[in-house]
Amino acid sequence: MLNPQPPLPNNPELVDTLRRPLRDLRISVTDRCNFRCPYCMPKHIFGPDHVFMERPQLLTFEEIERVARVAAGLGVTKLRLTGGEPLLRRQIDKLVGMLACVPGIQDLTLTTNGAALTPELAHALKAAGLKRITISLDALDDATFGAMNDAGFTVARVLQAIEAAATAGLLPVKVNMVVQRSVNAHSIVPMARHFRGSGHILRYIEYMDVGTTNGWKLAEVVPAAEIVRLLDAEFGVEPAVRNYTGEVAERWRYRDGSGEVGIISSVTQPFCGACTRARISADGRLYTCLFAAEGHDLRSLLRDSADDARLRRELAQIWARRTDRYSEIRSRETIPLHKVEMSFIGG
Ligand code: GTP
Ligand code: 5AD
Ligand code: SF4
Ligand code: SF4
Repeated sequence: MLNPQPPLPNNPELVDTLRRPLRDLRISVTDRCNFRCPYCMPKHIFGPDHVFMERPQLLTFEEIERVARVAAGLGVTKLRLTGGEPLLRRQIDKLVGMLACVPGIQDLTLTTNGAALTPELAHALKAAGLKRITISLDALDDATFGAMNDAGFTVARVLQAIEAAATAGLLPVKVNMVVQRSVNAHSIVPMARHFRGSGHILRYIEYMDVGTTNGWKLAEVVPAAEIVRLLDAEFGVEPAVRNYTGEVAERWRYRDGSGEVGIISSVTQPFCGACTRARISADGRLYTCLFAAEGHDLRSLLRDSADDARLRRELAQIWARRTDRYSEIRSRETIPLHKVEMSFIGG
C-alpha cells in the first residue's frame, strides 16, 4: 500500500495531464547485458560492432542518488534498478546503499537476469538495503532457455540465483517470464508447476512491441486470457486483488493455496490509466513512457550545476505535461514509430 504523499509547496498534487501521480522511478544503470535475448537485444543488432555507452556518459552514483532524492520529493516512493543487466555495473551494492538512505523511499528493488547473482552478491545487496528482487527466466529446459538468452547460459545457473536471493532474504523473489508463442509457450505450465508452492511469484509477460529491433508480431503474443485458461485447466486458479493501485501484474492465486502467479498483459489489457512510472536511462534521460521515442536530458542539468530546486522544477514540469498512454492507443499506425530500445531503459 502506498501512503498518501504530503502536499507539495506551490504544487499541491503533482499529477500529469491524465491526473496520474508520479510514484515509481525505474533507473537503468547500464545499457550492457551478458544475455542476447532476441526479443530485447537481438544479436544481429547488438553484435560485436554495437557501440555501448562509455563510462563518462553514464550517470555517476552521486548523480543517480540526487535525481532519486529530488524525485522522492515529488512523490516517488519506489525505486527499481534495471539495465541492460544492472549487476554488470561495478559496485552496484554501493549504489543500493546510497538509494536506501533517500528519505521517502519505501520500496527498493532490482530486475536482473540472475547470471551474476552469486550468494555473496545477494547478501551484499540485502545488507545494503535492497528489499526484494525480480529475476527473469523464460523456460525450464536448456534448449529453449539457451535460444532465449542466446549467450549460452543454463537454467541451473538462474535457478541457483533465485535460491541465493531467497536465502539472502530478498523476498518475495519474483520470476519474470516473457512468453512468445512459437518459442516458449510450451513452458507456461511447466514453469507454473515448478514455482508453485516455492514462495516465489512467477509472472508471465505478454511479449511487447518495445523498441524497433525485435521484429515484434502480434501473432507471437500469447494473450493473458489464454495463459489463465491453461493454468486454470491444469491447477485451478482464481483472481486475487491487486496489491496496490497501478500494480502492473494482475494476480491469480492457486485455489489449493499453493501460491500465486502474476500476468502482465500490456498488449491485450493495457494499464496506462494507472501508470505512475518514470524511467531514467543510464545516460540520464528521463522517459515518461516505456514506448517513448525521446527522453529529457537530465544529465546536462546535473552537470551544468543546476541546483536541486531547478532540478525539481524541471522534473515537475515534465511530469505535469505528460500525456503518454501508448499501450492503450497501440495500433497499426503506431508500430513503425521509432521507439527507444528496452535494454536502454530497462523494461
Ligand atoms: P512489482 O514492483 O513487483 O510490481 O514489479 P513490476 O511489475 O513493476 O516490475 P518489473 O520490472 O518486474 O516489470 C515487469 C515487466 O512488466 C517489465 O519488464 C515490462 O515488461 C512490463 N512493464 C513494467 N512496467 C510497465 C509499463 O509501465 N508499461 C508497460 N507497457 N509495461 C510495463
Ligand atoms: N516484451 C516483454 N518483456 C520484455 N522484456 C524485455 N523485452 C521484452 C519484450 N519485448 C522483459 C525481460 C525482463 C524485463 C526487464 O523486461 O524479460 O523481465
Ligand atoms: Fe538482457 Fe534482460 Fe534484455 Fe535479456 S531481456 S537481453 S537479460 S536486458
Ligand atoms: Fe505507462 Fe507507457 Fe506502459 Fe502505458 S505504455 S503503462 S503510459 S509506460
